[in-house]
Amino acid sequence: PAPFRVPHLRRAKENGERLTMLTAYDGATARIFDDAGIDMLLVGDSIGDNMLGHATTIPVTLEEMVLATRSVSRATRRSLVVADLPFGTYEASAQQAHASAVRLMKEGGAAAVKMEGGERIAAQVSLLTGAGIPVVGHLGLTPQSEHLIGGKRVQGRGEEAAARLRRDALALAEAGAVALVLEMVPAPLARAVSADLEIPTIGIGAGNGCDGQVLVWLDMAGMGDWSPRFARQFGQVGAALHTATTDYIAAVRDGSFPGPEHTYES
Ligand code: KIV
Ligand code: NA
Repeated sequence: PAPFRVPHLRRAKENGERLTMLTAYDGATARIFDDAGIDMLLVGDSIGDNMLGHATTIPVTLEEMVLATRSVSRATRRSLVVADLPFGTYEASAQQAHASAVRLMKEGGAAAVKMEGGERIAAQVSLLTGAGIPVVGHLGLTPQSEHLIGGKRVQGRGEEAAARLRRDALALAEAGAVALVLEMVPAPLARAVSADLEIPTIGIGAGNGCDGQVLVWLDMAGMGDWSPRFARQFGQVGAALHTATTDYIAAVRDGSFPGPEHTYES
């Protein structure tokens, strides 16, 4: 199949084709998702709480994102690789955002970058777009602002908050964003934002009216010990790995592994 590239985003929306996105943090899993036909892989800063042992995404560094992005992009043949700009690497100025995004593209091999925020990062989005860097926006629950927000809660409830989110979405699209992630917003608001925009919305906890969906792969695959209410477990990968591991331990202990077929006799 042909590679999924940025112009496909608008085309898919025009054609009413729902877009698929999963997070990936390394090549071993990215290869599987790419082979399965996922449109986009997001090297999310959710690597912080899902892989690196942090409680939030806030401690994640640009170096960690570059490493993960490189691992994912080298294993990927078809999917569009989008990398998150982590907390503290883009908010201060368009120049700062540009320097960080260039590292994710040059060293990491990303095809696009994602940033959290609306009007307040419009300057970043337009400078990057002008420099040839596709930008994906992210509104609703923006985990890098979790200390300001005070936890992981649904965003855009109430008229005022909904109007602000719609304004932010339009500002991002106007600045040149190629897609917009909507995280934990009421389904009617996500549907309205999707109708407002020509660029596709990618929802997570934002209902079925978005132009596509994204999940953290561990939540999608039943890998973690917990998953949010908006995720469905499409597999029990954690349980399968647990069983493989206990079987391996038992086979080593009872001497049945390695067998003759795993052994060099000379
Ligand atoms: O980092 C991440 O996984 C994300 C998705 C939840 C959209 O930003
Ligand atoms: Na993220």
